[in-house]
Amino acid sequence: MAQDPLVIFTPSGKRGRVAAGTRVLDAARQLGVDLDSVCGGRGICSKCQVAPSFGEFSKHGVTARPDALSEWNAVEARYDRVRGLKEGRRLGCQAQILGDVVIDVPPESQVHRQVVRKDAAVRAITMDPATRLHFVEVAEPDMHEPSGDFERLARALREQWGIEEITAELSLMGKLQPVLRKGGWKVTVAVFADHRGGPARVLDIWPGLHEGGLYGLAIDLGSTTIAAHLCDLDTGEVKASAGVMNPQIRFGEDLMSRVSYSMMNPGGDREMTKAVREALNRLATGIAADAGLDPALIVETVVVCNPVMHHLLMGFDPVELGQAPFALVTSQAMALAASDLELTAINPCARTYVLPCIAGHVGADAAAVALSEEPGLSDELVLVVDVGTNAELLLGDRTRVLACSSPTGPAFEGAQISSGQRAAPGAIEKLRIDPETREPRFRVIGCELWSDEPGFAAATAQSGITGICGSGIIEAVAEMRIAGLLDASGLIGSAEQTGTPRCEAEGRTHAYLIHDGTAEGGPRITVTQGDIRAIQLAKSALYAGARLLMDERGVDAVDRVTLAGAFGAHISPLHAMVLGMIPDVPLDRVTSAGNAAGTGARIALCSRAARARIEREVREITKVETAIAPRFQEHFVAASAIPHASDPFPHLRAEVALPEVGFNTGGDGDRGARKRRRRA
Ligand code: FES
Repeated sequence: MAQDPLVIFTPSGKRGRVAAGTRVLDAARQLGVDLDSVCGGRGICSKCQVAPSFGEFSKHGVTARPDALSEWNAVEARYDRVRGLKEGRRLGCQAQILGDVVIDVPPESQVHRQVVRKDAAVRAITMDPATRLHFVEVAEPDMHEPSGDFERLARALREQWGIEEITAELSLMGKLQPVLRKGGWKVTVAVFADHRGGPARVLDIWPGLHEGGLYGLAIDLGSTTIAAHLCDLDTGEVKASAGVMNPQIRFGEDLMSRVSYSMMNPGGDREMTKAVREALNRLATGIAADAGLDPALIVETVVVCNPVMHHLLMGFDPVELGQAPFALVTSQAMALAASDLELTAINPCARTYVLPCIAGHVGADAAAVALSEEPGLSDELVLVVDVGTNAELLLGDRTRVLACSSPTGPAFEGAQISSGQRAAPGAIEKLRIDPETREPRFRVIGCELWSDEPGFAAATAQSGITGICGSGIIEAVAEMRIAGLLDASGLIGSAEQTGTPRCEAEGRTHAYLIHDGTAEGGPRITVTQGDIRAIQLAKSALYAGARLLMDERGVDAVDRVTLAGAFGAHISPLHAMVLGMIPDVPLDRVTSAGNAAGTGARIALCSRAARARIEREVREITKVETAIAPRFQEHFVAASAIPHASDPFPHLRAEVALPEVGFNTGGDGDRGARKRRRRA
């Protein structure tokens, strides 16, 4: 008797014999191959598309004859006529296996497809979303066998999709009957089944086959800005991204001032809760409009944020987070109805997942960074710094991961800086100072040209030159240090000391003039002594946090530094190191991870396995509390110098010579000590 046909699936390499006449979809299921289906093999969703190959495959030891699959049937022909099927493709639920064959499952037909991350080419997200679409045929009601429509829907999901138990919100129950009847008892349901088990939830229902997709919002709720990605829950694709300012800023710029607002003003926490929830609703409406989607198709949100933002979003008074021992209401991950957070702009049954907090000062945003950057999988000791109003730091490798947060304040985001501004067109983002002439040249957001290149004035006429953003101020301060305009203690020299009239007197201190736009009605952009102090405070807090983690780990150096945060990608490693923001490592060991917290939120949105993983991992992370650590202050003071009072920074000094100038005691600016430096 002839053997059953051998089928080999690629790219998984899974193979096995199936009875002749078996549908490709069934063969895939038998062999554990990841082949998608929303309609359950009814030939209407086209999710099961495969690409069979015929011919001689010595690699697999098979010869696939052209008649190894059944001929096109009427369902495939109709699908091709109406929707078009790509050349060489078949519907897996229609084509039957008749002989040995090699079948490729293209990425778009895999449920657990890998989504390449643009921000990290080497890593991918494996799709495993909590909410999926299922097409079902529901039995019609019968006088002789009385049962509710919901019970018959539950039975259909059990029989056709193996979903054992379902539940639903009242609002969903309310629309069930008309939808079932409109669809002629054929409906598509969005079923949410999270990683913790328990009954699955029906989030929405559509008559017939729903082809509008399902979407989720990954939200990085920062103290200063709120950023969101709208993702397709089937493909993982980011359909739109948007950011808004956190409206809580009007209650206080940084976290502690918001906690004190809540302490001083009865009901203040509720005002802040209302403000942030309204902002999230506006953000959801806006981002759906940008993507041209109905916001009701947003069925899930994932939120990452620091503990204070977390409590204010949840509607918890953050007052305990303002004082030792910094007790959280809960550090656990939260799985809630989005309506509990008054997120009314999206699907009324939508779910929200909030990542776990690591500790009272180290929030779900740090957990998200850990999910995105995976320090616990690194062979080398890596320091991940998420630069924001509150910096999150993770230090670790395969053996152990430590975390802390550090109150850097908003200076790195351009706030509290005299000419500071948000990163927007017209903001100076890059700056160089000629060490000879001490003349600056710069680039502004929205223009590729440097300010000393022809055409710059015309190219920036529209935006103007409006201020300095976070990465710009970092470069400005570091360049001033390299050019000998700023001494190691952080003092700006006078015009006489530095030899440039750009160092202007400002009261008893000095400021460096970058750009004077007053003739054109624009601003005068300077770096003042106050700006330098604000940056020193911020960078000292960051460095002291890193040192504290290194102490805890018993090391004096790290192998690698990853800069993360909304503007982390824009920070120049050389300038960050001149400033002494980060520990000394070879420059090529400093990389940018972009908005790692936002990426972590996106990973959690697309993958239940990732949610389970981070809930496990946060329990293993060693928390280091900066606020009560006695050495924090000591590290902070030593880190105030630029780059540092005692740490030698040998790798940095091999790259660039820092002039030994001193402007405190009326020195002459040590102009003779000017040294050449290598340009990055
Ligand atoms: S499974 Fe839906 S078309 Fe094949």
